[in-house]
Amino acid sequence: MGVLLESHRTARLLILWASMVFHHQLRDERMRDRDDRAGVRSLLSSVAQYARYGNLRSVLQTRISGGPRVLIANPMPDRGGHSARRINKLLEGLPQNHRYLEIGLEWGKTFENVRAPVRWGVDPAPQFDIKRLPRGVTVIASTSDDFFDRLPAGTAFDLVFIDGLHTFQQAYRDVINSCRVCPDGVLLVDDVVPCDTVSAIPDKEEAMREHRRLGFERDPSIWHGDVFKVLLCLSRHHPELAFRTIVGLDNPQAVVWRRDAHTSVKMADSLAIDEIDRTTYESVFNDGVPTLFHPTNEDDAIVEALATLRAQASG
Ligand SMILES: C[S@@+](CC[C@H](N)C(=O)[O-])C[C@H]1O[C@@H](n2cnc3c(N)ncnc32)[C@H](O)[C@@H]1O
Repeated sequence: MGVLLESHRTARLLILWASMVFHHQLRDERMRDRDDRAGVRSLLSSVAQYARYGNLRSVLQTRISGGPRVLIANPMPDRGGHSARRINKLLEGLPQNHRYLEIGLEWGKTFENVRAPVRWGVDPAPQFDIKRLPRGVTVIASTSDDFFDRLPAGTAFDLVFIDGLHTFQQAYRDVINSCRVCPDGVLLVDDVVPCDTVSAIPDKEEAMREHRRLGFERDPSIWHGDVFKVLLCLSRHHPELAFRTIVGLDNPQAVVWRRDAHTSVKMADSLAIDEIDRTTYESVFNDGVPTLFHPTNEDDAIVEALATLRAQASG
């Protein structure tokens, strides 16, 4: 009976939504144009795809309520972009792959497409409805620092995706704290290679102002911050960690793991951190991605990390 009621409700929502969409489309005379018909076809194919993965309900809830978006209940291949693709590849090969943590969620586009039975996320301002979450999902609306401070002892994750505040010192703290809660897993760090000097400015507003002032042609919303300094810091001060920077297709990200299982990972001292903080974009990237970043293609980076972690797990 419950299932019947549920599907009845979903069908009603679907009809309501479809009639709204078509009303909107029909009002527009350009509907007769080929482009618009192609648009409707693509919309219908998208609806069919959501239905196939059992996600129509969440999509309809988002469209009809006019409120914040609702995360889809079931991850969909090809929807989460390069981050979800890399995370899912890593999770598939990890000896333990149940528990996922994402720092910095925004719209939840990566988060909702990660295939892990237990998913936690933290963001001071998530752009989706945190009261209606899929099964197995926990979202904490706070900064990553507060999240780690309050995390009950013994909470652990198999993979952490670090994509919160894109400044060196914050991203570095996120790495160190993540190592603490991910004793035998792997980290993926976003935005470790800025596309130019303006995108590497740690303050986002200032980066946008500079972008306008200099008249750069690229998309103004592209901003990486100075997360790249985290890799300088790992390279200089963390021999206990190995990392590879995924370059080539899509945005560069770093895969980070322990060379030996369960080694403790401690923050570098503040003088060392301050010195790295003074490094400029030009001094690092004048000749492209430096070799100390260990630039590697996506598959090789993932294979290398997984080989070590599997060897550690087996003894
Ligand atoms: C680039 S977006 C994240 C995108 C998301 N990971 C994805 O792949 O779809 C960065 C997010 O970090 C969040 N953020 C900013 N400061 C943060 C902090 N101190 N701790 C955690 N998240 C933070 C922002 O609110 C923003 O939503």
